[in-house]
Amino acid sequence: MAQLNGFKKIKTAVFISGNGSNLKSLINFSKKKISPISINLIISDNSNSKGLKYGKIYKIKKKIFHFKDKKLAENKILKELKKDNIDLICFAGFMRIVSQNFIQKYRGKILNIHPSLLPKFKGLNTHERAIKNKEKYSGCTVHFVNSKLDSGKIIIQKKVRIKKNETSKTLAKKILAQEHKIYPKAVLKIFSL
Ligand code: GRF
Repeated sequence: MAQLNGFKKIKTAVFISGNGSNLKSLINFSKKKISPISINLIISDNSNSKGLKYGKIYKIKKKIFHFKDKKLAENKILKELKKDNIDLICFAGFMRIVSQNFIQKYRGKILNIHPSLLPKFKGLNTHERAIKNKEKYSGCTVHFVNSKLDSGKIIIQKKVRIKKNETSKTLAKKILAQEHKIYPKAVLKIFSL
C-alpha cells in the first residue's frame, strides 16, 4: 500500500448507494490529525442516495453515475478519479459489483465494508441469514476488493453477539454502529503497515 507522502493526506473517494452513515464516519475520521486520508470525492450510482447530502454538508464534491451501461459508467468514474488524483477508494454501502478492469486500475487500493463475519454470509441479506442459521455471533468486516464478491483479503473484523429474539433490524443497527468504528481503524491499519 502507498506510504504517507510527507504531510499530504491520501486522496480518497467514497462510493455509496444508500444512507451513507459509513461515509459520514469516514468523513469525521478524515478530519482528525491522525487520519492518513482526506475525503475528496463522493460517488454514487443512485441519485436518491440519502448519503449524497453529506457532500453538501461537508462541501465535498459529489458525482452520480448511472450504471445502465456498466462499462461506460466505470470509464467515466475512472476519468473522474484520475482528474482528482484519487489514490484510495472506499466502498461504503455501494451496491454494485465492479469489473475486473476497474479493480486492476486500483489494485490493492479499493476497500469495502460488509455486514458479516466474512467468509460467512457473502452477498445480500446477511442478517436474516445469520439469524436463520442460528449463529451465536455475527459482525462486520473491512476487506480489500478483488474480482470475487466479498472475498478479498480481510483487514479487520468486529464480532457482535446475536441475542435470543434478535431481529434482522436490531442486528443491523448493532452491527452498523460497529462498522462506523472499524472502517476508520482499517484505514489506519493499512497505512501503518
Ligand atoms: C452497511 O451495513 C454496509 O456494511 C453494507 O451496506 C450498509 C450501508 O450503510 N454494505 P450506510 O449506507 O453506510 O449507512
